[in-house]
Amino acid sequence: MRTHDPADRSVTSRRRWLLSAAGLLAVAVALLPAQAAFANGSRVDRDATLRGEGRELGIQIGSAVAATPLAGNATYAQILGQQFSSITPENEMKWASIEKTQGVLDFSAADAEVAFAEQHHMLVRGHNLVWHSQLPAWLTSGTFTNAQLTDLLRQHIMTEAGHFRGDIFQWDVVNEPFNDDGTLRSTIWLNAIGPSYIADALRWAHRADPRAKLFLNDFNIEGIGPKSDAMFALVKSLKAQGVPIGGVGFETHLGLQFGFPNQFQANMQRFADLGLDVSVTELDARMILPVTPALLQQQADTYRQVMNACVAVTRCVDLTVWEYTDKLSWIPGFFKNQGAADIYDENFAPKPAFFSTLDALSNPVSKRHHRSRGDGD
Ligand code: G3I
Repeated sequence: MRTHDPADRSVTSRRRWLLSAAGLLAVAVALLPAQAAFANGSRVDRDATLRGEGRELGIQIGSAVAATPLAGNATYAQILGQQFSSITPENEMKWASIEKTQGVLDFSAADAEVAFAEQHHMLVRGHNLVWHSQLPAWLTSGTFTNAQLTDLLRQHIMTEAGHFRGDIFQWDVVNEPFNDDGTLRSTIWLNAIGPSYIADALRWAHRADPRAKLFLNDFNIEGIGPKSDAMFALVKSLKAQGVPIGGVGFETHLGLQFGFPNQFQANMQRFADLGLDVSVTELDARMILPVTPALLQQQADTYRQVMNACVAVTRCVDLTVWEYTDKLSWIPGFFKNQGAADIYDENFAPKPAFFSTLDALSNPVSKRHHRSRGDGD
């Protein structure tokens, strides 16, 4: 008969404890990622990802996404899902994409992107509901009264924001409303409805999807100047009137030849101080070709500066690159002899700008109050 010796039991439990501690240690060592040193001497984990490091700071790291490579290029899809926690459909939610023929709606391409995001626990920025560009031909070449155009816009917003209700964390409700001098851009919507089209659009979008944060989005508003001053005055007045505006998107299409925007961080901060989220929505940094090591380094410094500014502004809750690979960048098609604007090259190899962005997240310039954004991770 076995005696029940308390001493035995303590030896056994000590042995068990040691075994499990050793086991835990082994697991911890296996999980401990090796460290890699980067140019500025700081270190980040070799296995670190943009989305993982962003999560530590409460910053969603996004990329624009294109439907065709998402369906057909496994490498593109794999890196997207691994490195990013948010996507923005690059073209598939634009009016011309979803309603080529009046009254015939096709959300299939955008739906596939939303499904990808859900499968990979990513958020989706909706882009966009109101713009002067990429409108269907039946709309731009039709003859409609102002009242009909108002109805068409309301119906479009209610239908699209309603279709994606619950799937979108931020909607670019009105895209690029300003000229560079700060006057409102003359568009089909300004001409038909007047300046109130912006407040109307925000109210309609809010009715269709009350939980989405509603944004105005524009380019060349990163620095302080007439255009960002105009955006600032507009959103301040919208807030004062109780219009449902939740944030401002700074597209941040930079060109290395132009230098860094003037007072980028201070500019974002003044919008944040109005009680708005601020987002870097379409970041890229193009260069005049050919690519040189010096330009790649300048580009890496530029991405780092943008990320540092976002980290320093607590209401900067997401930063999206406008495609992550040079293979799919819009730049060469729009700017002659310019390109290489993204953080991965055409063969999906990470560039110095990838590492500087990751490093800026891993070794943040300042502490942030962590704000949980409901990331599925
Ligand atoms: O879909 C047609 C295809 O049927 C046709 O065969 C082909 C021939 O050119 O064109 C295809 O459309 C292209 C579309 O992208 C979809 O790929 C257009 O030509 C092309 O002009 C369009 O470019 C997009 C551009 O917006 C339109 O202004 C870019 O991909 C997209 O990156 C860019 O994104 C904008 C943001 O929405 C707003 N901020 C600026 C940013 C850069 O311009």
